Amino acid sequence: MSGIPVVLDMDPGVDDALALMMALNSPELDVLAVCTVSGNVPIEVATNNGISILGMLGRLDIPVYRGSERPLKREPVHAAEVHGPGGLGDTELPIPDVEPSGSVTEFLGKILSERPGEVTVIAVGPLTNLARAESKRRGILQKAKQLVVMGGSIREPGNVSPIAEFNFYADPDAARAVVRSGVELTLVPLDATHQVQIGRSELDRWVDGKGFAEAHFVRGSMEPALAYTDRIYGKASFCLHDPMAVGCVLRPSIFQTTRTSIDVEVEGELANGQVVADLRPFVDDRHRKGVSINWVTDVDADAFKAMFKDRVLPE
Ligand code: RIB
Ligand code: CA
Repeated sequence: MSGIPVVLDMDPGVDDALALMMALNSPELDVLAVCTVSGNVPIEVATNNGISILGMLGRLDIPVYRGSERPLKREPVHAAEVHGPGGLGDTELPIPDVEPSGSVTEFLGKILSERPGEVTVIAVGPLTNLARAESKRRGILQKAKQLVVMGGSIREPGNVSPIAEFNFYADPDAARAVVRSGVELTLVPLDATHQVQIGRSELDRWVDGKGFAEAHFVRGSMEPALAYTDRIYGKASFCLHDPMAVGCVLRPSIFQTTRTSIDVEVEGELANGQVVADLRPFVDDRHRKGVSINWVTDVDADAFKAMFKDRVLPE
């Protein structure tokens, strides 16, 4: 039986790479394609990294589509301090001589219209590609079976600003467009992803004694983020943001979700990219401001870590 058909939209980026590794090592999923977007790193780097990771895993059968090189309106922002200038931490993978398969917008339009209600889209970078696909073909996102997005923060502080998470901050206009598209959206915000952090000692336990390429990649890719968090927060830790979105599709039972209504701020000088959730207790659901979505509030962190480790770093 073939797995759940999924399309991964990402800005690899270290945790994106780990999410891709987890997805490819999960027989429950049938990864149809990788779509890249400017975010953690510029689009060329993200696209080369997508191809390189597939090469490392022997999966160059999976097409990579090159996506948006800049947000809908804002100037591009990147996160080299966390992911390293090459986007994969301290690792450098060979770049197979493979060209991207074409435009993301056309691919998304094609696959979602040819297989309505079947394909799950897992988006773990800025939502520029999805917004462009929706703008080109109104209603196309609603043909996805489900859209799982790693992004935003609701009750949790932001990571790139006091109140905004990187993916939504990098392209707030795209995030708003996707939220307002009417697609069935499951949001995996920092509220949930901050519950799953890996420190150096746990990472050592995971990779020590494993001589295979993936183990070297996991350790080397996480190093700049561990050094950055050590410097900034005084405690080295790595958040498995993007793998959590994959985990939501693999084992929804270890996640807790609730319905809420959200919108995305696009004008604020201080609030750019903020997720504004209508949590007012005295307002009934029919009158809440914003769009109703599935909000992933919590996760069984131990169960998720065990699943991630078993898929990415099998004994
Ligand atoms: O805020 C975390 C998110 O921003 C992750 O997807 C990370 O890869 C970056 O894209
Ligand atoms: Ca990402």
